[in-house]
Amino acid sequence: MFRKYLITGAAGFIGSNFVHYLYRHHKDIEVTVLDKMGYSASPLNIKDFQQYPGFTFVQGDICDPVAVQTAMQGAQVVVNFAAETAVDRSIDNANSFLKTDIAGVHTLLQEARRQKQLQRFIQISTDEVYGHVLEGSFHETSELKPRNPYAASKLGGDRLAYSFFVTYGLPVIVTRASNNYGPRAYLEKVIPLFITNLIDGQQVPVYGEGKQIRDWLFVEDHCSAVDLLVDHGVNGEVYNIGGEQELTNMELTGRILRMMGKDKSAIKFVQDRPGHDFRYSLDCSKMRKLGWKQRYTVDEGLEQTIAWYRDNEHWWRPIKENMDNRYLAGFWGDKK
Ligand SMILES: NC(=O)c1ccc[n+]([C@@H]2O[C@H](COP(=O)([O-])OP(=O)(O)OC[C@H]3O[C@@H](n4cnc5c(N)ncnc54)[C@H](O)[C@@H]3O)[C@@H](O)[C@H]2O)c1
Repeated sequence: MFRKYLITGAAGFIGSNFVHYLYRHHKDIEVTVLDKMGYSASPLNIKDFQQYPGFTFVQGDICDPVAVQTAMQGAQVVVNFAAETAVDRSIDNANSFLKTDIAGVHTLLQEARRQKQLQRFIQISTDEVYGHVLEGSFHETSELKPRNPYAASKLGGDRLAYSFFVTYGLPVIVTRASNNYGPRAYLEKVIPLFITNLIDGQQVPVYGEGKQIRDWLFVEDHCSAVDLLVDHGVNGEVYNIGGEQELTNMELTGRILRMMGKDKSAIKFVQDRPGHDFRYSLDCSKMRKLGWKQRYTVDEGLEQTIAWYRDNEHWWRPIKENMDNRYLAGFWGDKK
């Protein structure tokens, strides 16, 4: 069955993996990508999509109603990955987060109301909207207590999308995913930063004592979950999507070091981030009831990710050379 998708933010990490996932798993589709090409976007991701039939790229901002109208024309499915995503940047200044992660979502939702053929609007939210949890796991009904400006802005978009379901009957689904890793992630994120530093023989910065716990989701598993929700999710519902594989930052670092043949002398401990959430943990039984499960262990996902960065230096080398190092781990230490 023919289907037309609008995927926003697909010049970035998860959205780009999702577009490749769609073309690998579906025939007879058209995909339009709307992306403003911010600092975390890669033109090489867009170039890779040109191989696909029915692919169109619109460079524009989700806050711009004209760009949104052009890109959404005729779409049956909208998946909104576009966002300001870096917690450290939001702590420094949250203006762009309020614009994109709340007002931008509103612009998309308003246009979606005019697209009468629209069957699904998926708002990609985050587990950070729950805040952190010391014991147990978050369910979709858990209290929402975001603890940094990124998470608070994402919660604005998350609930705004839900309000369009309740108020206007828009076919909205909200997903809350845990920490993703995999190919094509911007190098500020911990895993690609560590891998590329180690390829270059540099140290890796670990916040505080590295005791924080994160749940790691391989991006391919995230894509399969979102794809499943397009057909089988229930409008108005929220779905947690996690790896259900929790590691302390030190455990994660140890695995990457071992896989890349390095030892602990490659670690540099740096001052902790203010308000650093201690642990995130998601209960994903609602997704499993739909028939989804994760296919990748952390070790399998990390091996694939390391291999991708080793094989695709042409993708990340220019990014690394032009990166604003103020926002790398260690940023807070440097500000003392
Ligand atoms: N990375 C994770 O671990 C994670 C976990 C849970 C949820 N999420 C959510 O998944 C989505 C994608 O995250 P990511 O890691 O791929 O981020 P990313 O930073 O790699 O990509 C974001 C993309 O959105 C684009 N963008 C930003 N502002 C825009 C705007 N105003 N208009 C149009 N395009 C804009 C950027 O240019 C970039 O290409 C985000 O909504 C994020 O909140 C990410």
